[in-house]
Amino acid sequence: MAVVRWSEDLRVGNRAIDDDHQALFEMLDRLHDAMRVGQGSSAVGPVLQELVRYTEMHFRREEHYMRQIGYAGYAAHKAEHDRLIREVRELQARCTSGAVTMSLKVHTFLTDWLRNHIMAMDKQLASEIVAVSGGVERARP
Ligand SMILES: [Fe+2]
Repeated sequence: MAVVRWSEDLRVGNRAIDDDHQALFEMLDRLHDAMRVGQGSSAVGPVLQELVRYTEMHFRREEHYMRQIGYAGYAAHKAEHDRLIREVRELQARCTSGAVTMSLKVHTFLTDWLRNHIMAMDKQLASEIVAVSGGVERARP
């Protein structure tokens, strides 16, 4: 049974972004499963790697949309993305080197960050995309 779940209140109204967010929540749930097997488990590394890759791809997609619509909040939103990626890459390096193990605290931080970011920044972005494009879904980058 899933511990980490995407929920309807997180829907932003842009299909590509919502699909990505759902995929990210599924990965966070799989990461939680891998940690349950054992924090030093060999299963944690690959799931964390997949999560980092997907997050980077997803952020690029959002940033592409922002440039497409000339989004005024681009710099602030991208700075948030860059900050998280930097932090997660550092964490990943420390996990790989064995300096730290993936903890529930870190997992909770990632889940809370994503949830808060979606509610505060991605909803604002998605409503701007709808306002600019008239609700027409744009091609995925
Ligand atoms: Fe975002």
